[in-house]
Amino acid sequence: MSKTIKKIGVLTSGGDSPGMNAAIRSVVRTCAYHNIECVGIYRGYQGMIEGDFKEMGPRSVNNIVNKGGTILKSARSKEFMTVEGRKKAHENLVDAGIDALVVIGGDGSFTGAEVFNNEFGYPVMGIPGTIDNDIFGTSHTLGFDTALNTVVDCIDKIRDTASSHNRLFLVEVMGRDAGHIALNAGIGAGAEEILIPEEDLGLERLLESLRRSKASGKSSSIVVIAEGDKIGKNVFELKDYIEENFPEYDIRVSVLGHMQRGGSPSCYDRVLASRLGVKAVESILEGKSNFMVGIINDKVALTPLEQAIKGHSEIDRELLRVSDIMTT
Ligand code: F6P
Repeated sequence: MSKTIKKIGVLTSGGDSPGMNAAIRSVVRTCAYHNIECVGIYRGYQGMIEGDFKEMGPRSVNNIVNKGGTILKSARSKEFMTVEGRKKAHENLVDAGIDALVVIGGDGSFTGAEVFNNEFGYPVMGIPGTIDNDIFGTSHTLGFDTALNTVVDCIDKIRDTASSHNRLFLVEVMGRDAGHIALNAGIGAGAEEILIPEEDLGLERLLESLRRSKASGKSSSIVVIAEGDKIGKNVFELKDYIEENFPEYDIRVSVLGHMQRGGSPSCYDRVLASRLGVKAVESILEGKSNFMVGIINDKVALTPLEQAIKGHSEIDRELLRVSDIMTT
């Protein structure tokens, strides 16, 4: 029989993503709905180690459903990777009477949660928050949809100037290890080629595609490149390489960078955050622990944290084919 839960802590960890605030709001209000206390933990695991806690009630999360970033702040804590750091964090939670933890973050944050659970038998529940959408056990992570809309919006603007000047633009998007943003936003924005970490399409294919596009009468083009793509050249080296092969091309590079992580969350991300927050708290109250709450076939579903960490969120290869057909 699990211990009665009276107080739940919530934190955001790792790279922030739009929708994290909506998830915090959902966790806090679901706790209030079930008459249990909620504590916000600042700066992720680092705040847990330093005891940076604040009691939160339903009114402390007013007007944040629409805000990007995270009001609890985020951090990647090196100290939490040490046993001493985790011991301190555990003592602080026990002293504050916090019985369970909701961790909103990516796989690094979940790894921390799982280790913490294994060491202290402490109840943890994960909510996937990262723009990269690279977590197994959920079709969408918080912030992915918003980031896609941001990227598409930016590329639409780039297209205006690209076509005015008959230029080729190389647009680098986020995704150190995952091509979900590049692939989906690339199709949405009508990119000529999309380079992703999961697939090394090779330089020759890229040149061939540009050759074809020129021959078919296209005067400007957009190539979308995930920052972690495996073609072996960064976006600026790639520009030089294409210029060497096609001196007639007027090429510009645009690195979208951290703007992709900011901004007001889309409606999809707000609804998702609200659903996942409710399920996370209610699962803890049912005595469950060590799971991630995700969305599969539009139904909220639990996946063991271990699987969420070890499993791989595959890209949809059909999207590569669709992209190819769209560039005909
Ligand atoms: O949140 C994930 C991510 O956006 C990656 O796509 C990107 O490589 C990384 O974060 C950047 O992290 P940082 O903000 O620490 O530079």
